[in-house]
Amino acid sequence: KKLIIINGPNLNLLGKREPAIYGSLSFTDFLEEIKQKYSNNEIDYFQSNIEGEIINKLQEVGFSYDGIILNAAAYTHTSVGIGDAIKAIETPVVEVHISNTYAREEFRHQSYISPNAKGVILGFGLQSYELAIQSFQL
Ligand code: DQA
Repeated sequence: KKLIIINGPNLNLLGKREPAIYGSLSFTDFLEEIKQKYSNNEIDYFQSNIEGEIINKLQEVGFSYDGIILNAAAYTHTSVGIGDAIKAIETPVVEVHISNTYAREEFRHQSYISPNAKGVILGFGLQSYELAIQSFQL
């Protein structure tokens, strides 16, 4: 399968950022592991701290890829634009979060991604991404 992981704001700091919540492994190290483990898939990666760049990427891949794994990070809770982009494209989107957002602050309980996603995986640390990749192997 041709898949892409899209990470939103501050996820470039994984490994350094609040390790008690998000773990101490950097995303690039994790990505290398996962690419090897699922080497029968093409797994692309894109990260941006900028909302419009995430929308541009969704539009760019959203008519040709088999699956999108999206952690929109803080934009999950604010971005009507990203929600609309998911509605506009054809490729199914699986929403992932490292932390269990429902066990955290109230403002993290709202998602503009979930109503438009194929499914949602959250709370399993970086393994949330792996479970999302597995969901596209079914
Ligand atoms: C997050 C959860 C969001 O609430 C937060 O803003 C993030 C990361 C997660 O993966 O747990 O930046 O998406």
